[in-house]
Amino acid sequence: MSARAGHPQTPMLELRGVRAAYGRIEVVHGVDLEVPAGSVTAILGPNGAGKSTMLKVVCGLLPATDGDVIVAGRRVNGATPDQLARAGLCLIPEGKGIFPNLTVRENLRMATYTGRSLASIEERTYQRFPRLGERRNQLAGTMSGGEQQMLAMARALATDPALLLLDELSMGLAPIIVEELYAAVAEVAREGVAILVVEQFAQTVLGVADRAAIMVHGEVVASGPPGELARDLAAAYLGGDGGTRSPDGAAIR
Ligand SMILES: Nc1ncnc2c1ncn2[C@@H]1O[C@H](COP(=O)(O)OP(=O)(O)O)[C@@H](O)[C@H]1O
Ligand SMILES: [Mg+2]
Repeated sequence: MSARAGHPQTPMLELRGVRAAYGRIEVVHGVDLEVPAGSVTAILGPNGAGKSTMLKVVCGLLPATDGDVIVAGRRVNGATPDQLARAGLCLIPEGKGIFPNLTVRENLRMATYTGRSLASIEERTYQRFPRLGERRNQLAGTMSGGEQQMLAMARALATDPALLLLDELSMGLAPIIVEELYAAVAEVAREGVAILVVEQFAQTVLGVADRAAIMVHGEVVASGPPGELARDLAAAYLGGDGGTRSPDGAAIR
């Protein structure tokens, strides 16, 4: 199974009527979505909307209870996370998924299982993120949150993903770092990777997204070009269960 072999017009990822549940409680109620190669798709929505659950379904960590998960034109419902990873899917989970007690270089070494040499992974990583080069021997857990997120992204990219899934990339990071990270995300998309980002906080991702959708209470309530979603977004957060508000109107946990 290779996600890279699809027809250029076939979306890298397509969801059709996807539902998901924890036990008997359904939290994703029929989501339709397309993520083309070489582009960034953003899904925004308040805490509890079902965004992370949807990503778990795409990665094979949670079975869809209904609907189709289609990767590069092939229905992949029932595939294991391992099979999907080999097909080119890569998730950067909320909380980054790096090893805090290993150095930057040791974290990168974990990605050599794909067959690429550590030297070539390091070269590409430090070119994209010079800051990681300066910190190659530092324990990952002692770096700033932004640098840790860069490392998580570098590890993901070392596996040459066809579809990169990012869960709350900006969580807890300073706006200037978030901008830097999203600039890197946009660059990766330009190299041909399909990228799906879910975020609770909107602003920065909309600057690099080609398409955006809003998810509330397990449903996509609006989708379209990022510029056209601003008003829907305000409504989604004000009407949703996003908790309290920051001065710029974004929901705070
Ligand atoms: N492991 C789990 N077991 C049971 N319920 C869960 C679990 N994870 C999430 N949920 C519930 O599913 C809903 C959607 O959660 P989630 O997908 O994490 O939303 P989001 O990522 O948009 O914040 C929430 O009501 C949450 O409480
Ligand atoms: Mg989440």
